[in-house]
Amino acid sequence: MARLTDIGWEEFHALPLEAKRPYLARAEGDGMPYHTLFAQQFDRPVLERLCALSNRIRFINKSREGALYLKSLLAHKRAMLYFSQPSSRTFLSHLAACQILGLTTGSVRDAATSSEFKGESHEDSIRTFSSYFDMIIMRSPEQGLAEKMSWELSNSSRPIPILNAGSGKDQHPTQALLDIYTLVRSFEEKGGIDGRTVTFCGDLKRGRTVRSLSYLLTNFRDVKQVFVAPKELQVPDDVIATLEAKGVRHEISDDLRAATKMSDAVYMTRIQDEWDDSKGESAKIDTSRFKFGAEELALLGPDSIIMHPLPRRDEIATCCDHDPRAMYWRQMRNGMWIRTALIAGTFGLEKSIMECGY
Ligand code: CP
Repeated sequence: MARLTDIGWEEFHALPLEAKRPYLARAEGDGMPYHTLFAQQFDRPVLERLCALSNRIRFINKSREGALYLKSLLAHKRAMLYFSQPSSRTFLSHLAACQILGLTTGSVRDAATSSEFKGESHEDSIRTFSSYFDMIIMRSPEQGLAEKMSWELSNSSRPIPILNAGSGKDQHPTQALLDIYTLVRSFEEKGGIDGRTVTFCGDLKRGRTVRSLSYLLTNFRDVKQVFVAPKELQVPDDVIATLEAKGVRHEISDDLRAATKMSDAVYMTRIQDEWDDSKGESAKIDTSRFKFGAEELALLGPDSIIMHPLPRRDEIATCCDHDPRAMYWRQMRNGMWIRTALIAGTFGLEKSIMECGY
């Protein structure tokens, strides 16, 4: 069993992401994650277990008795939600997930209200949180901070799990989990995810959800990935290199309508201009052909779906919202259930929940 206490930070940091997987797993050896940092931690069996656990939890939660049982499971634990970047869905769905399992929560949503304002480092702040809480759910603009802190905490006198709720431009693993869960549920009566075509459209260069989901999809057989974007915002080379190394079919395109016709899922994303290097940089890019509206909806297959991690701006017209193929609202709710499953798995509750009498 690989442990973060057995490896120095520099050596761990330098490992390829997939090689980090065993260091981040629960010491009990059940395959569930202890720290959740990257999409590369999740293989297909664990994804399927998390989806099954989510289904089980949402079923149990339907009855008052079941909901009270779930609420009793982690009533002795506390979680810190440390979000130093704005968030609605990821913050609230993790908060709701904690509430479903009975965890008490604390939060910092603006570093200016913590002692970081007085010059305390992120690292010292997170060590502080670990003194009071049993898990840290964190979103940070700083790529790699969650990884560094997971190593630091595992090597401290009070190791607690870290759950990455979005880091820099690189990873958003729990968003990718909820995206997979949405795809699994959307196609469960129609042959599953294998063999599907998934199109990503929008700002693929800076969208961390795209990198995480693109990787998770490589766990499924013969899924084709299509990347539709203006050339300035096309998917980064490292994502394509991963697909090529794994022999995954993929295509680069600038034609959303052609891609829509052949896709089982169209995953729209907004322009992430908060990452612009200079003011107004994104506004100079012509994004008019990368929006999903009534004409694209007419080209979408009857069993195909539209997804979006949200928030959106104008990249999906509101006229699509009531179409049964618009999955983005359900995607949000799925996020609450799979995050509940992930937290339950992190605390070793999978077997108890799957086998309980509710
Ligand atoms: N999808 C997502 O991460 O949304 P929020 O930024 O609202 O959390």
